[in-house]
Amino acid sequence: MNTINKILLAIGLLASVVACKHSADTIGHNNDKISQRVDSLLNLMTLEEKIGQTVLFTSRWDVTGPVLREGEEDAIKTGKCGNIFNAHTVEYTRKLQELAVNETRLGIPLLFGYDVIHGHQTLTPISLGESASWDLKLIEKSARMAAREAAASGLHWTFAPMCDIGRDPRWGRVSEGAGEDTFLGEQIAAARVRGFQGNDLSQTNTILACVKHMAAYGASLAGRDYNSVDMSDRVLRETYLPPYKAAIDAGARTVMTSFNDLDGVPASANRYLLTDILRDEWGFDGMVVTDYTAINELIPHGVAKDEYEAGVLAMKAGVDMDMEGGVFMDHLKEAIENGEISEEELNNAVRNVLRLKFELGIMDDPFKYCNVVREREEVLSEKNRETAYEMAVASCVLLKNEANVLPLKKDEKVAVIGPLANSKRDLLGSWKAAGKPQAVEATILEAITTNAAKGKVHFVKGCDVNTEDRSGFSKAIQAAKNADKVVMVMGEKWNMSGEAACRTKLDLPGVQTDLISQIAQLNKPVILVYMTGRSMTIEKEVEAVDAVMNVWYPGTEGGRAVADLLYAKQIPSGKLTMTMPRNVGQIPIYYNYKNTGRPFNPEKPKDTYKSRYLDVENTPLFPFGYGLSYTTFAYSKLLLDKNTMNQGGELNITVDVTNTGDYDGSEVVQLYIRDHVASVTRPLKELKGFEKVFIRKGETKTIRFAITEDMLAFFRQDMSFGTEPGTFTVFVGADSDTQNQVEFTLLNQ
Ligand code: NOJ
Repeated sequence: MNTINKILLAIGLLASVVACKHSADTIGHNNDKISQRVDSLLNLMTLEEKIGQTVLFTSRWDVTGPVLREGEEDAIKTGKCGNIFNAHTVEYTRKLQELAVNETRLGIPLLFGYDVIHGHQTLTPISLGESASWDLKLIEKSARMAAREAAASGLHWTFAPMCDIGRDPRWGRVSEGAGEDTFLGEQIAAARVRGFQGNDLSQTNTILACVKHMAAYGASLAGRDYNSVDMSDRVLRETYLPPYKAAIDAGARTVMTSFNDLDGVPASANRYLLTDILRDEWGFDGMVVTDYTAINELIPHGVAKDEYEAGVLAMKAGVDMDMEGGVFMDHLKEAIENGEISEEELNNAVRNVLRLKFELGIMDDPFKYCNVVREREEVLSEKNRETAYEMAVASCVLLKNEANVLPLKKDEKVAVIGPLANSKRDLLGSWKAAGKPQAVEATILEAITTNAAKGKVHFVKGCDVNTEDRSGFSKAIQAAKNADKVVMVMGEKWNMSGEAACRTKLDLPGVQTDLISQIAQLNKPVILVYMTGRSMTIEKEVEAVDAVMNVWYPGTEGGRAVADLLYAKQIPSGKLTMTMPRNVGQIPIYYNYKNTGRPFNPEKPKDTYKSRYLDVENTPLFPFGYGLSYTTFAYSKLLLDKNTMNQGGELNITVDVTNTGDYDGSEVVQLYIRDHVASVTRPLKELKGFEKVFIRKGETKTIRFAITEDMLAFFRQDMSFGTEPGTFTVFVGADSDTQNQVEFTLLNQ
């Protein structure tokens, strides 16, 4: 920056606030000092410089290192591009930041974003896996760790949490969310935001969160990515929107639009979503970025004839920043000159961007995230690896354990079979961010070998994940014959879920099921360790084997975590956050369905004209909330302190949970509520509370929940939000199938 410009900038900034040092007040919305500084800076900016702040470009990351596309360096130097994503490391972000700070007229620093979804370099399990821990403190700790590492690598902003409700496992992106449930989704979204942002964004170990994808992306028709979404406003508001709102209420400073259209209007042109709901109803005062080229995609969506029109639609709807599309860069100026967008509309978008740069403190110190020593100490530190391990342990879900075939014993001879047993890359899942397979210390096989006595483990791959090759079967069968127990590590490869990874068949791919059934015929105890990013249809496999453990993609320390669980150094405690269907035809399947006018009666299964299938029962293979442990828990004494609730009142419910097995362990105690009669149909059960509690063997703990009136509220027939008096059932138990229940009445007064 030349001296005159620096002076100009200094005068502008000084005029607004003298030596505004950013401290705890920087996370406050509508922070006055920051608003003044933003406006002073805005006054100094040309139209082109303002537009530059609405532009976000990717830096690509090649195997050998980072690369910018042609002309991108110039775009930074000339202020045409004010924000970059996918660049990371202190060295590289510093290099780019220098271009922005030293070469542009006003020296406004770049904002660096990245998809830090489940860790930066130290990876925790995929988000769906994390949700299966039902441990909000741990999820927050995991996001905190990711933020520390990312910030230490020069980053300011993560594109997480994804708050899309996932009720359709054909959609590959269910792996990135918190499962099917709205209430759980709300809690997890808020925990992640707290973790990423901490309580002071100006600290060098916190980063901006980004609530995505606004909105209802998880309901893409037929589970096909990028597909249309069509739903009633009631379903939108009751089921899909609350997790985004919870994240915003927790302080998330940015929001990303989704790719889908909703009720005929693509999200990036959807003023109802981005302005009416987000800003006017919810009071969001942060920044809205589109998803990747989502403005350009308004053309194939068929709502804009060209990029110019698309840009106008997006900005009018409430978009502040254009990710990668270059539409704002190329067309906003003309739109303003033509009077189709007012300069004040642009100013508002720019304010939303600049405010973040002030809140982070990079306006005062653009290189504050560029400390190589911090980077070296933070990334992949022992402490972070321990967090990743803890998270991986908590996320695995034991689905079956016939005759206590698990845990394994040190001296047992184990045949480890399967294409995923010795893979490092697959442990990391689809959003591995900057994570590297080399950082994985042990595969599942290697960690099993460490746990077992010397010479007790024999590995045969047996087959691939997704080919028809059966040539490895005979060796695998031979190994199984020679073993006491067989551990089969199978599932989907890391890239079979995630973005653009939708499937219509949710069986184990390739010949894996075949190998399982051949080995199961040997009458050896068989344990299936199943890696996946979604609920799959594995009924045959579950029947064939003795034990099943769902381990997701468990992350950098996942190998060790899985093996330690198999050998009972750790005790399984995860529970499903997505229902597991019996077959694809049951999808969408979720626990909080409605009764219908013709509910299926299990006592009269042959009744026709009931809401059921001819070829498969209505029930899932495993319900939402389900998961076993090596120990067992018994529920007793479910007690309400009163059986009536006044308007605005509160009830207390207690339940005794006893650890009746042989291990200390943790149980996720779940509370569901049913509203019997209302002006609109209500789900048969809705999760309204849960607590993960550690109970020693033989010990009983009394768990308490308060039931407040707001837990009974819903969108009534006139779409007002509130309660209606009447009878409610409260269920408390180990999963969504629980019938452990009591009733109460909400009174009219
Ligand atoms: C597209 C994905 O939909 C979004 O989730 C992600 O954050 C962006 N690409 C940036 O990588």
